Order: sequence, then C-alpha cells, then structure tokens
Amino acid sequence: MSQAIDIISNDPLVKLGVIDINLPGRNGLDFVKFCQTLNPQDLMAEFVILTGHGELDDAVEAMRNGIVDFLLKPVDPDELITSVHKLQNRLIQQQTDKSKRQDSHIKVARLNQQVADKNRILTSMEERLEQFHIDSLTSLNLAADYKDPETGEHVARIGAYSELIANGLGCDSKQLALISRAAPLHDIGKIGIADSILLKPGKLDPAEAEIMKTHSQIGYKITQRSTNPILQCASNIALSHHERWDGSGYPYGFSGTSIPLEARITAIADVYDALRSARPYKEAFDHDMAMKIILEGDGRTEPRHFDPSLLALVKTLDNTIAKIFEACQEKPVDESVSRHPELDNSKPLLKSFLHK
Ligand SMILES: [Fe+2]
Ligand SMILES: [Fe+2]
Repeated sequence: MSQAIDIISNDPLVKLGVIDINLPGRNGLDFVKFCQTLNPQDLMAEFVILTGHGELDDAVEAMRNGIVDFLLKPVDPDELITSVHKLQNRLIQQQTDKSKRQDSHIKVARLNQQVADKNRILTSMEERLEQFHIDSLTSLNLAADYKDPETGEHVARIGAYSELIANGLGCDSKQLALISRAAPLHDIGKIGIADSILLKPGKLDPAEAEIMKTHSQIGYKITQRSTNPILQCASNIALSHHERWDGSGYPYGFSGTSIPLEARITAIADVYDALRSARPYKEAFDHDMAMKIILEGDGRTEPRHFDPSLLALVKTLDNTIAKIFEACQEKPVDESVSRHPELDNSKPLLKSFLHK
C-alpha cells in the first residue's frame, strides 16, 4: 500500500490504477479519495475498483460520485481490459480538455495584453491631441495678444492670481491646474475684434464699445467646442469674466453664483491687474490704490461687482498678489525679443510664492 502511494505521489505519469476495495489495513475507496487530493493542478487519477458482492453498495456509491469504474469479482479479463480502455479514453479526453482550457487562457491573456497596449497608445494619442489643441489656442492667444495693448505678462499674471485665489478657496490640485491654464485665455476673443477698435488710442464711442464687448462671446465660441477640461474652463471664463456679482456686467447680466466661480475669480484678477497697468487712456496705480479701488470702489469699479467671499479672501492674499505683479513685469515692447515666455507658465510663477 505505501509503495502504491509512493508511486502515485511521485510519478505524475501514473494516472490509472486497478485496485481491490479491500486492501490490507485500508479501504480501497479511501485510498482512491486520497489519491485524488494529490497534485490538484494536474489530472486526477482514474481507478477500476474490484469488489465482491458484499461491498456492492460502496462501489455503487463511488460510481454515483463519479470517482471510479468498478468490476465484480471474480474479474473477467475481457471486462477488465474494456474498463481500463474506458478510463484511458476518459483520461485522454480530460487531457485534451485541459489543453484547450490552457490554450484559451493563453489566448485571453494575449488579447488582454493587446487591449491594454492599444489603450495605452490611445491614451497617449488623446493626451497629445489635447496638448496640441491647447497649444493651438495658446498660439492664438499670443496672436491676439500681439494685437492687444494688454501684454503677455498680463495674461500670465492673471493665471497666477487666479490660481492663488482658487488655492485660498481650497480647490484641489486638479482644479488649480485647470484655472491656472484657463484664465490666461480670458481675452482670447479679442482676436476677433477689428484693430481700429482694439488699438484705438482714445475712448471708444458707444457703438465701438458694444463691438468690443463681443470679445466675451467670441472667446467662448473659440474655446467651447472642445471637451478638454482646460478649454471647458476657459470657455466659462471667456464668456463670463465681465459679468458682475450685482448683475450689471455683460454679455448676459448674470449675477451672483449664476456666474461660474472660475469667471468670478478671473474677474477680480483681471480688474486688479488692469488697475496696476498703465494704458494709453489711464495711469498705473500702485498696489495699495488698486486694492483700495477694488475693496471700496472709485465710481467705475465697485465692490458690489465682485463675489463678496472672494473679496474677503483677496484681502488676506494682499501681499502675495502684490508680489506676483512685481515678479512678472511688462517689458518695453522694443526690448522684448521674447515677449511672452510666461504665458504658459503661470503655475511656477505662483508656486514660488506659495512655497515661501
Ligand atoms: Fe475681457
Ligand atoms: Fe485681461
């Protein structure tokens, strides 16, 4: 018995046995069950059990469980050969089924690998396409900027202020990345405004002022067709950065929280920076005066134009806002061979302050 266990345990090729139900010191069925627990990954061994009339019930029960074939003693040699052949065929069939299963597992694994590879390629293509889209609009922004008295430094600072305010609101890093890249595109619609209006040195007449206002909707149309989150954010900002909290802005006179948060943030940043900058039609104010006008009003800009919670926040960010302006100054046009290096780089500009 121990010799049989030894053989069947150690030789994986032994898969078929003929065994008497009455073994010395052990029941043949128990021996079969024991053998079937060996090498669970491999094919189970098959057995022909030889029984006498007295053990017939045990043998029938074993057959019901699909464990073995059995023969009554005394054994007819022809029946034994037939029975062994039957089990051999069963083993061959099991081996074939197992090979097929292994093949299909390998095929499924290969297919999964191919799908994963294709997904990786697709993701990287989508990322490149998105980047291409953003780069195209950044270039368009540069083109608009060359026409506009507002400079590349202005739009870079708008990105940095907006990110600073959003950070103060507790926005997560993903939202900060969005607004810092989207806010610089706020005036992209100016590309669609005629030079005679955009570059007019004096005050615009009412009709010209109305045309100038359309830059919000033009900017929206340029950016809104993309599903890219940065451009979706940019389209909200482009459309609504001249809306006012009290409803007195344009193009739709939206008020309060019906103005998207990113546009409310950009609006404060834009007004602050415009106040700090000299233009053909106005002088530049220092930081304290610009903050005073935003917080207290001067007849044209009024605190009611802005989200009160953002005004309160801006007060606490006072110093950093001033530092952003000082760090990113406009250069005289004739010296600026590279006029807009900061345009797509507002994040590092703000980061240097946040980590101080
Ligand atoms: Fe604007
Ligand atoms: Fe602006």
